[in-house]
Amino acid sequence: MGASRTPSTCVSDAGPGRPRRRQRAARSEATKRADPLLQHNMGTQEQSPLDVEALRADFPILEREVAEGTPLVYFDNAATTQTPKRVVDSITEYYYEYNSNVHRGIHQLSQEASIAYEEAHDRIAAFVGASGGREELVFTKNTTESFNLVAYAWGLNELGEGDTVVLTQMEHHASLVTWQQIAKKTGATVEYIPITEDGTLDMDAAGDLIDEDTAMVSVVHASNVLGTVNPVSELADMAHEQDALIFVDGAQAVPNRPVDVEAIDADFYAFSGHKMAGPTGIGALYGKNHLLESMDPYLYGGEMIKKVTYDDATWNDLPWKFEAGTPSISEGIAFAEAADYVEEVGLENIRAHEEYVTEYAYEELSALDGVEIYGPPADRRGGLVAFNVEGIHAHDLSSILNDYGVAVRAGDHCTQPLHDTLGVPASIRASFYLYNTRAEVDTLIEGVEGAIDIFD
Ligand SMILES: Cc1ncc(COP(=O)(O)O)c(C=O)c1O
Repeated sequence: MGASRTPSTCVSDAGPGRPRRRQRAARSEATKRADPLLQHNMGTQEQSPLDVEALRADFPILEREVAEGTPLVYFDNAATTQTPKRVVDSITEYYYEYNSNVHRGIHQLSQEASIAYEEAHDRIAAFVGASGGREELVFTKNTTESFNLVAYAWGLNELGEGDTVVLTQMEHHASLVTWQQIAKKTGATVEYIPITEDGTLDMDAAGDLIDEDTAMVSVVHASNVLGTVNPVSELADMAHEQDALIFVDGAQAVPNRPVDVEAIDADFYAFSGHKMAGPTGIGALYGKNHLLESMDPYLYGGEMIKKVTYDDATWNDLPWKFEAGTPSISEGIAFAEAADYVEEVGLENIRAHEEYVTEYAYEELSALDGVEIYGPPADRRGGLVAFNVEGIHAHDLSSILNDYGVAVRAGDHCTQPLHDTLGVPASIRASFYLYNTRAEVDTLIEGVEGAIDIFD
């Protein structure tokens, strides 16, 4: 294994003499000025481009309370985002109007379902800039299944002794565990690009690790813990110079910024519907057409075949070759509806809004004594902040925050090796989406202050 440096954690520097707590009155004054749309003038992102008040009306769940008088503050978006009504409606419409299996009937309902399901592939392909349409876009269950598909369908055949698979120290288990196991089966070696002190990739080390032995570079586009947005085009160039392929994990990037797989020159690119205002049970794998053509199927059975005899079988056209059995039909159709929704809101607007909220959260958390934030500074990260408070276990903090109505994730966020590198067993992660506000961040801060009081 090739991790060559031990990075230290990125400690937010509250600075000597800074107050442990902000004056409550001062913060609510700031909130009145700032939230949700008004100028705040704190960081680089001075204003949100989104009409958050109007957008929140699209998400009925945001109206609920977690206890009487305690409104929900949903900050677990990196795990799963909430679903707008029109996406839910598209599922209801499918079941009320044209529920039927795809590719299996000549009757009207089956034709309608087949067309909608097939067109959803084209829609998602266009959403990430895949000009080959459905032939380059396989529907999977989620990002995890996309990894397994490539690891088994490509890796088992192509990897062997002497090959390296180059990952990063910030990979999600979906990538890390999958490549690790395929490497064990094939005799390949897994190496890790280390992270620097500020939680970004050590690109010099990447240059050393990606060499003529490298068969695959697999990197996360945006880290689900550090918030780091990695230079994936540069890494793609480095991989291709060595005749290696690159697989980009876009689970935390596609929901909140414009992504163009062809501009990146990714060979494979994976993401999940449920992290971009879509339903669970559906995700995508983009693959360059010639690669998907050359790969054997990953799952066998109905739907994925062209001709079957008692002795053998031939495979269906792309992408159906990789979609064995009855697929997630309504989810696929709703996935396309979610893509329409976020595109109408504007991916660039979502990115800017997340930056607006994240900067505020970063500043406010940094102002508290004993808070350690992981990853790069606020102006260089995606829409999340993972942190710990000295003397309080992440699970305890999450439980106290729940009393304030704040839903955050506590744990290792499917990145145990990264947490080992950071030197902590767990962290708290607040992750934001297009409907979150700076006023909600104030509730988070109140909750953290409340926890500090309890544990004082
Ligand atoms: C960076 C990253 N990759 C992969 C995944 C796995 O996504 P899924 O659970 O939808 O397969 C996640 C989910 O948290 C993630 O954040």
